[in-house]
Amino acid sequence: MKALQVTTLGEPIDALTLVEIAAPLPGPGEVAVRVRAAAANFPDVLMCRGLYQVRPELPFVPGVEACGDVIAVGEGVSNELIGQRVVGGTELPFGSFAEVAIMPASQIYPAPTSLDDAQAAALLVGYQTGWFALHRRAHIQPGETLLVHAAAGGVGTAAIELGKAAGANVIAVVGSEPKRETAAALGADIVVNRSTEDFVAIVKEATGGRGADVIFDPVGGETYRKSTKCIAFEGRIVIVGFTSGEIQSVALNHALVKNYSILGLHWGLYRSEDPAAVGACMDELTSLANSGQITPLVSQRHSFDTWPAAMQELANGTTVGRLALIP
Ligand SMILES: NC(=O)c1ccc[n+]([C@@H]2O[C@H](COP(=O)([O-])OP(=O)(O)OC[C@H]3O[C@@H](n4cnc5c(N)ncnc54)[C@H](OP(=O)(O)O)[C@@H]3O)[C@@H](O)[C@H]2O)c1
Repeated sequence: MKALQVTTLGEPIDALTLVEIAAPLPGPGEVAVRVRAAAANFPDVLMCRGLYQVRPELPFVPGVEACGDVIAVGEGVSNELIGQRVVGGTELPFGSFAEVAIMPASQIYPAPTSLDDAQAAALLVGYQTGWFALHRRAHIQPGETLLVHAAAGGVGTAAIELGKAAGANVIAVVGSEPKRETAAALGADIVVNRSTEDFVAIVKEATGGRGADVIFDPVGGETYRKSTKCIAFEGRIVIVGFTSGEIQSVALNHALVKNYSILGLHWGLYRSEDPAAVGACMDELTSLANSGQITPLVSQRHSFDTWPAAMQELANGTTVGRLALIP
């Protein structure tokens, strides 16, 4: 099969090499999936660089999620799954940037019929992360104000849609004017361009000085510090990632004085700690997709040949929504 493998760590454009290798076979509890579409995530970039918390042995095929057809099942897995169109998380080193990927059978779900392959591929990580951040961790309520950082990105676009579906007023922060259009089209009530505008002042003005009830932060560093200046009384800041490259320290005296909560989110951990909640979330996401309330934004679709350059664009922070590989 064809696959994009990382043989030497580095920037995606250098690290991803197109190779012909044997298609992997599923082990006990696993399925092999013929990939219809794979979605890119920022952790794929970090894995190419060797900077993610998960460091597969070289060589490995990255790609943590996909939509595809089950073509083989391992020991202990029902044959009835064969032929089903599913979305799921992969088992590295056999990721989804390949014609065939391996997935734990416990982590595959029927692909929503309302979504095409690339959209379905982008449903799992981004929308599950958004849903667990907003609902399970922050308990967002209708009418609350949600501030979303990196709002035109993969998890950010999901957070905008899920915030609107939850009845929140959404303020989205982006880094450029084209991204402003993306966030507005997804339903954000107010969009802030962080390169020319001050999100703290805009959040305060929009909320009559109260601040945002929930802040979704995949960026960290200075963005986190500024977020603490516009968090509401009893607000919740959800720590989702550190795309700024800086893992910030937290001033707990400030959290005490202003009565706000700082919540960590590691969505992947729910897959082992509470798999039933992940399944229930997927049911909810499927129903939101089927009713048209969420549609993963797939901005680019690529073949193997153009995928390394596309992944480099993701690394450079210039993409919007999700990129999809169609093997
Ligand atoms: N906690 C979890 O369970 C979980 C799950 C999935 C993903 N994540 C994390 O979520 C983050 C976003 O992932 P993604 O796949 O959605 O990628 P992404 O949105 O493309 O993330 C990159 C975006 O961050 C923004 N950004 C803001 N300040 C930045 C800065 N100083 N330097 C670089 N970028 C900056 C940029 O958008 P603007 O220029 O428009 O601001 C950039 O496009 C990653 O850190 C990922 O690891 C966490």
